[in-house]
Amino acid sequence: MKNIESIGYAVFFENSLAALQQFIDAGSYSQVIILVDRNTNDHCLPVLQAALPDLVDYDVIEVDPGEENKNIDFCIGVWNTMLDFGVDRKALMINLGGGVVTDMGGFAASTFKRGIDFVQVPTTLLAQVDASVGGKTGIDLGNLKNIIGTFTQPQAVFVSAEFLKTLDGRQLRSGFAEVIKHGLIFDRDLFALTKTVDEQQDALDAIVHRSVEIKNAVITQDPTEKGVRKILNFGHTIGHAVEGYSLEHDENPLLHGEAIAVGMICEAYLSHKVNGLTAEGLQEITDLFIAKYEPVALAPASYPDLIALMRNDKKNEQNKVGFALLSEIGKCDFDLYVSEDLILESLDYYNSLLQS
Ligand code: GLY
Repeated sequence: MKNIESIGYAVFFENSLAALQQFIDAGSYSQVIILVDRNTNDHCLPVLQAALPDLVDYDVIEVDPGEENKNIDFCIGVWNTMLDFGVDRKALMINLGGGVVTDMGGFAASTFKRGIDFVQVPTTLLAQVDASVGGKTGIDLGNLKNIIGTFTQPQAVFVSAEFLKTLDGRQLRSGFAEVIKHGLIFDRDLFALTKTVDEQQDALDAIVHRSVEIKNAVITQDPTEKGVRKILNFGHTIGHAVEGYSLEHDENPLLHGEAIAVGMICEAYLSHKVNGLTAEGLQEITDLFIAKYEPVALAPASYPDLIALMRNDKKNEQNKVGFALLSEIGKCDFDLYVSEDLILESLDYYNSLLQS
């Protein structure tokens, strides 16, 4: 699988952990910091250590896993530990983890002493196909997702299938939602493939690579999301609200991909209503998500909170809720605004599927 050139850096697939060793050897870094969470410390750091036997001199910073910890308090903890370790501006930070570690680690590195180099070593499917590529770094503020952050490109991204072996089915399915999204917004063939291949099969390597190719094709045109990059947010306006609400109210909150699977059904409904997606297209999308993901009842009592969360979404302008919507499977438009009534109708559409 060929490496992919992104915005001034490469996403490595071929012998990617050996490539990481070469990258470290070639840089004249004063020190190496590895950011992990408890899970990646236990399951992924040993894989990295085995693959990089020459990397002996490094410090590890560990944060608690889970989206609920991607906040300023944990970030302050990371910055303080960096100070304790005497990290200077010539240091390298390796973010070894899922989206929480790559987002928060990128943010901590991009702001510490006005920015130090960092690389992403994504260990979840979600981080491999989405979070680690494209230079979005950030943390949540309360239940508002990724509302604080920067666009800062990593020095490189190293994607290894080895880490996916450490994931359970729920984590894999969550990441797979972003793969399906890439098919829906850009590539009908990839979407068709996601119907026949599942997240546990060998074909996953090729699907991960195609997914990164698609993401990269979009972000290289528009690195700071002034235009076309917004199509990557398909399913995320409603999905982020569902995720934020779940984080606040549920003991076992939805994973990101589970929430955006709900968001993609609702936004496919909006796409049908206002952007030309056919009824057959809506049905095809609905059928796939309903078959793959656990149903999540959206209590009508939660609707006002969900709408309030959507109103705070980063993609809005002038207090209007902005959407990226499909015109057909494989094509997506952005900067579309729909009425609150129609958004509520899309939530009802989702709920109606659970009843039938
Ligand atoms: N996750 C969407 C983006 O990187 O733009």
